[in-house]
Amino acid sequence: MQLNAPLDMHLHLRDNEMLHNIAKASAETFAGALVMPNLVPPVSTKEEVVSYKKRIVDAIGNETFTPYMTLFFKPTYNRDFLEGVRDEIAAIKLYPAGITTNSEGGVSGFDAEELRPALEAMSDLGIPLCIHGETNGFVMDREAEFVSIYEKLAGAFPKLKIIMEHITTKESVAALDRYENLYATITVHHLLITLDDVAGGMLQPHLFCKPIAKRPEDREALLKVALEAHPKVMFGSDSAPHPKEAKEACGCAAGVFTAPIALQLLAELFENRGASLEKLQAFVSGNAQQIYGIKPLQKTVVLKKKPFRVPSSYSGVVPMFANEEIAYSLKEVIDGQPC
Ligand code: NCD
Ligand code: ZN
Repeated sequence: MQLNAPLDMHLHLRDNEMLHNIAKASAETFAGALVMPNLVPPVSTKEEVVSYKKRIVDAIGNETFTPYMTLFFKPTYNRDFLEGVRDEIAAIKLYPAGITTNSEGGVSGFDAEELRPALEAMSDLGIPLCIHGETNGFVMDREAEFVSIYEKLAGAFPKLKIIMEHITTKESVAALDRYENLYATITVHHLLITLDDVAGGMLQPHLFCKPIAKRPEDREALLKVALEAHPKVMFGSDSAPHPKEAKEACGCAAGVFTAPIALQLLAELFENRGASLEKLQAFVSGNAQQIYGIKPLQKTVVLKKKPFRVPSSYSGVVPMFANEEIAYSLKEVIDGQPC
């Protein structure tokens, strides 16, 4: 099975030693990724985004891989600033304050008028807005409660592309078709697991992430749009590495590490559910190219139906399905046009 120029439109690459240890896992099999800005401190100036991109490029070495950069949304961003940084970024990521890892400096109110100067300028400049859409309500209801905020923003800024990140609920799926300017990323783990897998038996810290995996009917709604490659959804792994000690701890960090096995898992899932390779290709690359208007470098990833035992750790980070067998292996990666 061959995939052309796979893209991961939601990825955490971290910094320093972690960046050096894990960036290659994505750069090996993906042609590019939208890199999240939730470093400490968050990436929020032009200098920071330029220097972070350089550190990523250094970490990935010779791989054919484009880091599409993001800034951490601040309501104070003005038109001059955004014009100056436009060419360095593919999107801006908005986090509600304190909702997830390293999001303390995020937004605390969603008054459309307060956000108008920044969002109108982004809309005029064609900069997409990616949102981690959760309220601070009851954990299972946070995303569904946020849908009304998505709708308010989508209605107030009809030309602004709003990407609902890592959606996990049938309510978010339903919102996709109500507003022309709403799009979504979906992770592979949310297509595979429900809350039962996280907490139904012994607690599984390596499956704990924000947003938390939901109910079977939510997963079915996600599967439907992913498997048909609905043109407004695209793959975003939300692969979020934390050191083993931070996950296997009293107070487990949120994030599932899937980067090295994401495409293999998607290949297995699409096959098991009878979805075509064309749909998988659209879900992992074509749709993102359309939505973001990007043209990644050529890279062909060849997967083979041969069991692969997932390692117990990658440089001290435990991946999803560690020590388990998955059905597809990576056979080879060819840079340039497929032969
Ligand atoms: C992410 C992280 O660790 O940076 N964690 C997660 O559970 N997904 C942040 C995020 O995307 O919420
Ligand atoms: Zn994320």
